[in-house]
Formats: sequence, structure tokens, C-alpha cells
Amino acid sequence: MEFAVATEELTRKFGDFTAVDRLNLQIETGSVCGFLGPNGAGKSTAMRMLCGILEPSSGSGQVLGFDLRRSSEQIKARLGYMSQKFSLYDELNVLENLDFFAGLYSIPARERKTRIEEMLEMAELGGLEAEPVFTLSPGHKQRLALGCAIISRPSILFLDEPTSGVSPKSRRAFFNIIQELAAQGSTVIVSTHFMDEAERCDKIAFFNQGRLLAMDSPDQLKNQVLEGLLVELEVPDPMGKISGLQSLDFVKECSIHGLLLHVLLKKESDLASLEAFIGAVPQPITPTLEDVFMALAKRKEQVMAE
Ligand SMILES: Nc1ncnc2c1ncn2[C@@H]1O[C@H](COP(=O)(O)OP(=O)(O)OP(=O)(O)O)[C@@H](O)[C@H]1O
Ligand SMILES: [Mg+2]
Repeated sequence: MEFAVATEELTRKFGDFTAVDRLNLQIETGSVCGFLGPNGAGKSTAMRMLCGILEPSSGSGQVLGFDLRRSSEQIKARLGYMSQKFSLYDELNVLENLDFFAGLYSIPARERKTRIEEMLEMAELGGLEAEPVFTLSPGHKQRLALGCAIISRPSILFLDEPTSGVSPKSRRAFFNIIQELAAQGSTVIVSTHFMDEAERCDKIAFFNQGRLLAMDSPDQLKNQVLEGLLVELEVPDPMGKISGLQSLDFVKECSIHGLLLHVLLKKESDLASLEAFIGAVPQPITPTLEDVFMALAKRKEQVMAE
């Protein structure tokens, strides 16, 4: 199967409010797809529909070839899901949690021991088997939650901000595991606010206000969305300079990053014109996904205002 996920105009409304708006998504089997976007963009809602936990208001979708509406039970049986708030049993110890989830997924008794050992090794929790969950560090908790989500060896794994609240070191270790799972053929969909994690995804789906703004590899997004030359400017009152800069015909985008301005020029030879206009020296910089997102979000606003 080429696509583990395919949706057509998938939509979810809550009353009059549209949380996910006509989503058309295709996710290749065995890839890591990152869901990015600001708070409230619709990432969790989209994920919950794909998991069969939340019914779509309109549109359609297939996960692992099964129809979201008609076959949600078949989908649920084949997926792993880790929600924004890890669903572990705090009073139970590490082993008991894994055993509980093994039971939940009806893993045959004769296989349980092996699977649990596999998970302990994957999560590097060896020696902590008897520790109650509430005594674990956030990083250990997170890897245990992942172990519980994948003990059934799901073909597709949904991780909703799995790394919020854990240390950078744990986050990197966690992402190594994710990439390994994908290398073994699982499809992984992971939402994140961390740009370093987004960079490690095969494809990124950018969400804003319920809409999918773009989907591509990190490099393609940077090349396509930020075609031209991106420069950084340090100027007094950067906020006050934005509209002036945006009215220049050689400026494609302009956004604020802390105290600095990022300006996308049409071409390299526009550097001198920019310097003359602003009275400061622009420094060419390597674009980040943050720049991509800022540019995309702004373009969308323009389209919607027209
Ligand atoms: N059960 C619900 N009832 C009403 N509104 C909801 C419900 N679930 C989500 N929403 C709304 O839908 C929008 C999208 O929410 P969602 O949780 O999908 O965003 P998100 O991209 O996951 O955000 P975050 O990055 O904060 O997790 C938000 O405005 C949210 O308030
Ligand atoms: Mg969310």
C-alpha cells in the first residue's frame, strides 16, 4: 500500500466552529509525518479523526486502506496512539502498565513476556520494572507511554505532542526511536511544536486555523516557500518597519523574530537596495521551518482577506 493515510475534504465542526476544514492529506507508508501549527490549528482534532476516536462531520478518509467511517474498529485495532497527556496508570509500576496494555490489545499470554521485554529494552527502562509510574522522570514516563502505545506492534502510530515537558536529551532519544520504527515499516504521525523535531520528519503538514497550508519535506518547503534570499536585520523598532518593508517591490516576505527582522528578498542583488532603504546591513541566513511557517501563515491571511 502506497499511502497509509489518505483523506478527501475531511472536516470536523464543533457547532458552528470548523476545527478541521476540508483536509486533503496523503501520508506514505513507512514515513514520519510531522503535524505542525499554532495552538488550536486542528492538529489533535485531525489526529483523533484519523484514529477513529472522533467522527468526521463531512468528507472521507482511509487509514491502512480502511474507511474511517465504516471500518473504524479495524483501524483502531491496528494503530497505536499516544495522546497529549500520557495515559499511564500512576499507581501501577512500569511492568504492570505494560502488562495492562498488553492485555488491552489482547496480546496472547505466551507472547506477553517477550513483548514486554522488547518494550523495556526499547524504552531503556531495564531495572525500573518495579518502580511506580509517579516516581519516574518525565523522560522515562514518556518512553513508557510509547512502549504501551506500541506493544501491539501497530502498523501506524499517532503521537500527539509526545515530547512536551521532557528534556532536550530525552526528546532526541525519543525521536531516534520514532525514526527506527519508521525504518522498520511503521508509519508515524507526530505533532510537535519543536522545530528540531520537525526537521527530522520526512514530510511536514502545516496546519493553521483548521486548514492544511502545505505538505512537503523540510528541504522542499524551504526551497519552495522561501525562494529568493533570506536575510536578517537588526534595527530599532522592528515592528514599526514591517509595513514599509513589505511595500517594497523587491521584498517578498517580512516577519519578526524576537528583536530581529527576517526579510525574504526576490534575489541576491536586492541586498544593496535593502541596505540603502533601511540603513542597516542585512545578513543572509539559512531559513528555518519557523520562517516557512510565518510566510505560509501570512500568505493564507492575504488569500482569505481578498
Ligand atoms: N470537543 C471540542 N469541542 C469544541 N471545540 C473543540 C473541541 N476540540 C477541539 N476544539 C477546538 O478546535 C480547535 C482545534 O483544536 P485542536 O486541539 O485540534 O488544536 P491543536 O492544533 O491540536 O492545538 P494545540 O497545539 O494547542 O494542541 C480549537 O479551537 C479547539 O478549541
Ligand atoms: Mg493538540
